[in-house]
Amino acid sequence: MSTALEDIFQRVLTARVFKDREKLRPDYVPEELPHREYEIKRLGETLAPAIKGVRPSNVFIYGLPGTGKTAVAKYVLKKLSKAAARLDLGSGLANCYINCKYDNTSYRVFASLCEQLGVKVPFTGLSIPELFRRFMKALESSSRLVIIVLDEIDVLAGHSSSDLLYRLTRINSELSKSRVALVGVTNDLKFTESLDPRVKSALGEEELVFKPYDSDELEDILRQRAKLAFMEGALEEGVIPLCATLAAREHGDARRALDLLRVAGEVAERGGGFKVTEAHVRKAQKELERDRVVEVLRSMPLHGKLTLMAVYLLERKGVKEKTTGEIYSLYKEVCKMLRLDELTQRRVSDLINELDVAGLVTARVVSRGRRGLTKIVKLNINEEILREGLREDDRLSALLQ
Ligand SMILES: Nc1ncnc2c1ncn2[C@@H]1O[C@H](COP(=O)(O)OP(=O)(O)OP(=O)(O)O)[C@@H](O)[C@H]1O
Ligand SMILES: [Mg+2]
Repeated sequence: MSTALEDIFQRVLTARVFKDREKLRPDYVPEELPHREYEIKRLGETLAPAIKGVRPSNVFIYGLPGTGKTAVAKYVLKKLSKAAARLDLGSGLANCYINCKYDNTSYRVFASLCEQLGVKVPFTGLSIPELFRRFMKALESSSRLVIIVLDEIDVLAGHSSSDLLYRLTRINSELSKSRVALVGVTNDLKFTESLDPRVKSALGEEELVFKPYDSDELEDILRQRAKLAFMEGALEEGVIPLCATLAAREHGDARRALDLLRVAGEVAERGGGFKVTEAHVRKAQKELERDRVVEVLRSMPLHGKLTLMAVYLLERKGVKEKTTGEIYSLYKEVCKMLRLDELTQRRVSDLINELDVAGLVTARVVSRGRRGLTKIVKLNINEEILREGLREDDRLSALLQ
């Protein structure tokens, strides 16, 4: 074995930063959720009738990413099941949790629901009406109350799956023994606009909005988790406040804060250290940003990357505030160099909006007096990281020498 590898293994073996790294993973639901007492109480109150076998109202939960929606929903359901079990109502109450990002078609949603109700169905091959029939049968096999959480429900919008939501919201009128309550969760605040108004009003019998965490709240969340995940004394004093401040800037995202802390610990451990420092956090932030940019760029169509390339080249020329016109003419040059057909300025302008949504640039419309309105574009990510991301595409790497 090479000595370099041996060195790495040795460092990992001797490093003593983490006690239990898993406690920082996104799917770990802690025993307590600081600063979500109100939301837990509201959701708890809404769903509580279920322990008496009464159908609760449907609930719609909104909030930006990482504001604890999934954690709170899972937490309340777990407590509810426990309470029902204690009251000997356990078999009468069933919870189904669906993450629509993974189960993203009507087929998969119904199949997963059947499975969670104890009915096996094939992965493919049945028609949707047949699946629905089996699901209804599973529901009616005994008299029970079923709470269905549809997390990341926005993924189902638009597709043929909107029919699925319609069916689920109407299902109680077709049931005789059992009852269903729905909890829809989304971070897409525009999602409801695209919904069928009947589905919208049925889903939103109750609504719960999760506000972003501020930096003090994130600090508390991080401290609680750090106690479980790190060895005592492994964190330098400024580490948690720095993670909290950086994540608060990104719309108060607890996932982001926890990721920063975890990766900072990993960076420290790789270095063979016993202490996580603020410098490790800064390094972690860079690593996370790099991963995010590379991931976004991988799934971006070629002309999106070419547009971003034009923004990058202007930035390198020292143009901080770039107009759509400037970007478009550089984009055309890039296309020429690569012998590619160019898109229209209108289309490139749309691509700029997509880059904005992905968080890579910020585009803002400003008034330029008599010359009318212009879109001003600024690069939103570190130049060096962008360069690395663009380089992953062989066609572009030649232009980045
Ligand atoms: N109040 C809290 N206390 C402890 N941990 C929290 C709290 N809020 C969120 N977290 C943690 O932060 C991470 C993100 O939270 P969660 O997955 O619930 O966010 P979300 O609102 O569902 O985000 P998204 O919209 O992206 O799905 C999880 O690891 C979760 O355990
Ligand atoms: Mg979630």
